[in-house]
Amino acid sequence: MTPAQIELVQRSFAMIVRQPDETAALFYRRLFEIDPSRKALFTGDMRRQGKMLMDTLNIIVNQLQTESTIQPAIEALARRHIAYGVEVKDFTSVGTALLWAIEAMLGAEFSIEMRKAWMAAYSFVAGIMREAMRKAATP
Ligand code: HEM
Repeated sequence: MTPAQIELVQRSFAMIVRQPDETAALFYRRLFEIDPSRKALFTGDMRRQGKMLMDTLNIIVNQLQTESTIQPAIEALARRHIAYGVEVKDFTSVGTALLWAIEAMLGAEFSIEMRKAWMAAYSFVAGIMREAMRKAATP
C-alpha cells in the first residue's frame, strides 16, 4: 500500500468507526446474502461479534504503516479462525461484503481511490490470514 492509500483507509474508517453496530450489521447482512452457508458458523451474539470485528479492524487499520508489527496478531487471528470453521476461500465473500458495507456507510464520500485503497488493505490482511491458515493446516 502507498502512504496515500493508508491515509485514505484510516481517514475513511475514522468516519464509520463511531457507528460500529450499523457498519457490522450491514456487513453481516451482505455476507449472509452472498454466502448463506456461512451463517451457521456464527454461534455467538452478533452484536458482540460485530463490536469485536470493528475493534479489531480499528487496531489493524491504525497500524497499517507498521505492517511488520501487526503481522503476528493477524496470524494469531487467522489461526483462531480455523477453529471457527472458516476456510481460505471465505475471504473472497467476506472482502466483498466488507467493502460493500464501508461503501454503504460512506455514501457519496466513498471514492474510486478509496475503493482501491480498501482493496489493497483487505488484500494485505487477508493475504496474511490465508497464508497463516495454510501453514497451520500443513503438518
Ligand atoms: C479481515 C478479516 C477478518 C477479521 C479482521 C476478522 C475478525 C474477527 C474477530 C475480531 C473475531 C472475534 C473472535 C477472535 O478475535 O478470535 C472473529 C470471529 C469470527 N469470524 Fe472473523 N474476521 C475476519 C475474517 C473472517 C472470515 C473470512 C470469516 C468467514 C466467514 C470469518 C468468520 C468468523 C467466525 C465464524 C467467527 C466466530 C463467531 C462466533 O464465535 O460466533 N471471519 N473474526
